[in-house]
Amino acid sequence: MNAPNDDVILRVEDLTIRYEKGRSIWGTPRYGQVVHGVSFSVKRGETFGLVGESGSGKSTIGKAILRQIPVLGGTIGFDGETVTDWPEGTTPLAYRRAVQVVFQSPRLSLNARMLARDTVAEAVHFHLGLQGRELDERVDRLFDDVGLARHLGDRYPDELSGGQQQRVAIARALACDPRLVICDEAVSALDVSTQAQVIALLRRLQEERGLSYVFISHDLGVVRNLCHQVGVLQHGRFTDIGLTEDIFERPRSDYTRALLDAIPRFPGRTAA
Ligand SMILES: Nc1ncnc2c1ncn2[C@@H]1O[C@H](COP(=O)(O)OP(=O)(O)OP(=O)(O)O)[C@@H](O)[C@H]1O
Ligand SMILES: [Mg+2]
Repeated sequence: MNAPNDDVILRVEDLTIRYEKGRSIWGTPRYGQVVHGVSFSVKRGETFGLVGESGSGKSTIGKAILRQIPVLGGTIGFDGETVTDWPEGTTPLAYRRAVQVVFQSPRLSLNARMLARDTVAEAVHFHLGLQGRELDERVDRLFDDVGLARHLGDRYPDELSGGQQQRVAIARALACDPRLVICDEAVSALDVSTQAQVIALLRRLQEERGLSYVFISHDLGVVRNLCHQVGVLQHGRFTDIGLTEDIFERPRSDYTRALLDAIPRFPGRTAA
């Protein structure tokens, strides 16, 4: 598995995942396999894009990396550790800190009854054990880092715009200094200009902190803009995987080509 000084932070090899799909009349579980032998790696400080139609298995792969669901086969290696060797339900705290997630809907992922500042403070306190002035300073810095005016900390999620809510969710994810962030449709619910701001924020945070991202999205324009490498998923298998530029300029599979052709126009791609 990848050594800690390797330039690869996450290595997924031959990953297979199935879900239980009910039981037979004898009570034996029936399974449906949704990820079939997927392999990819994410370099330190880079972004790997997972794209593909709805139901292709993108979030499932993200959940497996976050250890929210069991895997059937294959390995997930993170920074010298073989994550898939750990027994179910025994995820080390260090890993839970190192790998964070930002979801599509900050309104759902934020506690509606918690002030923005408390949301971030709670994560800082939980992960770093800070209190009092140290805690306050750390929260202030996180607000600054994600470009959120400090006074907005006194608002509840419903009193913030979608972009501001997503910045709170990002600040919370950064509270424990993660090395990898899974962004599952993290900008999909935002309007185009807010989306551009949050993407710029993600890129800046990557440069400043050397963060790696697994960026899950169905929006190929955004993926082209942000990702160093891309894997195109269809029914739980990659139809194309490689450097973003290569995938967009020279897609190998008909499926990827069809996905690209379905976009009327996106930056950098000239009309045929
Ligand atoms: N908990 C579950 N139990 C059973 N099947 C599931 C479960 N979660 C997802 N699935 C199925 O697994 C497949 C992949 O789902 P997944 O959520 O990974 O897709 P996705 O690519 O993230 O789609 P979307 O773009 O709509 O978010 C789908 O067929 C889905 O119905
Ligand atoms: Mg999904």
